[in-house]
Amino acid sequence: MKPCDLLLFGALGDLSRRKLIPSLYQLEKAGFIAPETAIVGVAREEVTDEGFVVQARENLGTFMKEAVDAAVWERFARRLRFAKVDLSQPDQYGRVREKVDQSLRETVGYCAVAPALFGPICRGLAAAGLATDRARVVLEKPIGTDLASSRAINDAVGAVFPERQVYRIDHYLGKETVLNLLALRFANSLFTTNWDHNTIDHVQITVAEEVGIEGRWGYFDASGQLRDMVQNHLLQILTLVAIEPPTALDGDSIRDEKLKVLRALRPITRDNVEETTVRGQYAAGFFQGRQVPGYLGEEGCNPGSTTETFAAMRVDIDNWRWAGVPFYLRTGKRLAAKRSEVVVHFKNLPHNIFQASYRTLPANRLIIRLQPDEGVEIEMLNKVPGLGKGVRLQRSTLDLSFTEAFKSARIPDAYERLLLEAMQANQTLFIRRDEVEQAWTWIDSIQEAWRALHEPPKPYPAGSWGPVASTALLSRDGREWSE
Ligand code: BG6
Repeated sequence: MKPCDLLLFGALGDLSRRKLIPSLYQLEKAGFIAPETAIVGVAREEVTDEGFVVQARENLGTFMKEAVDAAVWERFARRLRFAKVDLSQPDQYGRVREKVDQSLRETVGYCAVAPALFGPICRGLAAAGLATDRARVVLEKPIGTDLASSRAINDAVGAVFPERQVYRIDHYLGKETVLNLLALRFANSLFTTNWDHNTIDHVQITVAEEVGIEGRWGYFDASGQLRDMVQNHLLQILTLVAIEPPTALDGDSIRDEKLKVLRALRPITRDNVEETTVRGQYAAGFFQGRQVPGYLGEEGCNPGSTTETFAAMRVDIDNWRWAGVPFYLRTGKRLAAKRSEVVVHFKNLPHNIFQASYRTLPANRLIIRLQPDEGVEIEMLNKVPGLGKGVRLQRSTLDLSFTEAFKSARIPDAYERLLLEAMQANQTLFIRRDEVEQAWTWIDSIQEAWRALHEPPKPYPAGSWGPVASTALLSRDGREWSE
């Protein structure tokens, strides 16, 4: 355990309350926080150290499923301090310095605030003498809204901290099942050979959400599902499915390979955007038996908004391994179920010896359930036992459910892992500047093509699987979504 002080910028905000404070408590419980470490909440509100402790305790009660352990809480509460700082004012950061260990000065500054404040926070840390070469700064997404704005943010941060001290979060990289993609691919010889255009027909990546916009209208409407979800989470999942074997598990080996995949994504432009993408927006509908409003009926909405709440696309990776293997991505709000998964469809057999009974045989599928009900399934055909003429085949599933297989293990929240990795100065699970900028380059081109099309998003009823056009996207290629 590396001793360092943790500075939580935006300590009273939603992310801190829901995720960061509970995750830090879990790290405390598991004994992963060094005894010397202080946790300093920083925000502009007038709050005392004691007031911050009271708020943190309330957060745990509200946002944790389990009961708070008195002894763990006592240890945790002793670490908590608060510094009142207007984050845009560099001269106020001296108040943060007063709360950290003066001899140590090894800080992890977690920016759980709007990206416009990332630069000012870094400058404030420098002004207070806290931007030492052992300090680290953690940046929440979104890093900008396009390439130009992400560069501006990265430049502002980079003016104070070199890249090796910058930790950009994509919380999907902290999820157990997303990390398991690396284990699945690089710890199993079965998949070292069966993982390219020779054996795989296509890959589907779905990140479906049940939630609507609920109170986040302002942020979401300016962003949309493409920038909010595809630019980061879906592209990160795609890169882990598609990367070449890295030479090691360290930060740059994996990130170098991810970058190569991002660079190989075929651009989607005005010429191919219509046949490769679908934009949707949820309309009113029924969800779990109750009537729910459409996007344009949500509180605080802009009634004329054409922001997409659903995006689906065919992505081609122009490299040796994936030539001719489309990756279909889809993600949306207010869909029929919360379900994130990667489905790998293997190719049909070259020759069918069971032709007498079955004209065609369904191909094998590997289903990686990212959430909920985390697990891995392989669908395969087996002979149904029995005598008689011909062979009867049946599709059955080898199903590995994580909760059953690893009964004793609690699945940690993504933020627990990412906070721990940042405190331990391990950059592997964080996004490098070139990665984030390459992802924006690819996304910007889609965004531009959509703008040029001038078409409103296609409506879909809340509680469905998205617009009909999403089904058509695959049926044009003779395929269908796995439901
Ligand atoms: C966030 C997006 O990054 O991820 C949200 O901004 C989205 O819009 C969320 O709801 C989904 O995360 P999870 O972990 O619930 O799948």
